[in-house]
Amino acid sequence: MEEKISQIQKDFLEKINKSSSLKDLDKIFIELFGKNGEIDQLPKEFSKLSEDERRKIGPLFNQVKQELEEAIRVKREGVREETYKALEKEDFTMQPPRLQHKKRQGHLHLATQFKKEIIDLFAKLGFSQFDAPHIELDKYNFEDLNIPKDHPSKDMWDTLYIDTGNLKVEPGSLLLRTHTSNFWPRLMEKGKTPIRAMSFDRCFRYENIDARHSHTFNQFEIAVVGQVNQAITMANLKYLSDYLLQGILGKEAKSRFRPKYYPFVEPGVGIDCLCVFCHGKGCKICSGTGWFEIAGAGLIHPNVFKATNLDPKKYTGLAWGFGPDRMLMLKHEIEDIRFFLEGDLEFLEKF
Ligand code: DAH
Repeated sequence: MEEKISQIQKDFLEKINKSSSLKDLDKIFIELFGKNGEIDQLPKEFSKLSEDERRKIGPLFNQVKQELEEAIRVKREGVREETYKALEKEDFTMQPPRLQHKKRQGHLHLATQFKKEIIDLFAKLGFSQFDAPHIELDKYNFEDLNIPKDHPSKDMWDTLYIDTGNLKVEPGSLLLRTHTSNFWPRLMEKGKTPIRAMSFDRCFRYENIDARHSHTFNQFEIAVVGQVNQAITMANLKYLSDYLLQGILGKEAKSRFRPKYYPFVEPGVGIDCLCVFCHGKGCKICSGTGWFEIAGAGLIHPNVFKATNLDPKKYTGLAWGFGPDRMLMLKHEIEDIRFFLEGDLEFLEKF
């Protein structure tokens, strides 16, 4: 038994000396003191010893046990010390390699590039660009658009209302605009017809943020208003939809209309785009339908003309609103809408 204990002592002191990492030392500790470890097992054999032997072996065992524990503790401290010394020599102020060797230059954000592309397309057709307030009155975002106060159709938009505080407006009438559709009642109200206008800008909704939804997003919207005899029809809407899609996706792009309710247009349609990935066959991205919805549109409702002091018997018009962020995600296979709002350098440099 004495020999066995001495052997363990010799072998393990050597092992401890040779080890150079905390991980090695943890392993040695378990080999000795863990369940079924060498030191853990030894006392089980003491019952076989005579009284005299036990009196001798007991203190030896305790001494070796303490010696080994102490050797591990001292070695651990030594390894730690070495590690700190090595770290002190490191230069943590160094720039990451990516920034070191590449001179970085700014460029327009992908969404801004896309905005320019679309604005240029429609400028060619004689559309002028307009901006409307982001902080908007209920009147322009809803009421003029045939969505009366407390009407259930308001539920179609999850709206962020703003505290009116000391402002001289009716309480509860101030909001973050939910769509770019607020720009055309503002123009119509001024009475400067004919109108051939467009707006590309931010909108806001009370949304839970995830890969497909954001509280802040872009819309592109057009509105055309003219005299009844100018015959503004659904055919114009169809032409403009294909013009946009082919302008951004190429000649093969196609649109289709589905009847859809929007309070400010009659008839109203949802516009789908032929899936750019499967060309209509049905795939994972279009959920097997071959199409995906990109816009809402229709002929302006007579009540919108009335609300903006234009005679619906004399005037007619069309309006059309489209979500460019979603289109960009599809075009470039961007899987998360949050990239548009975050300053992620890898994303920004890619486009
Ligand atoms: N403003 C609508 C929305 O954000 C989209 C829309 C639908 C715009 C029909 C239009 C239209 O101009 O005619 O949900």
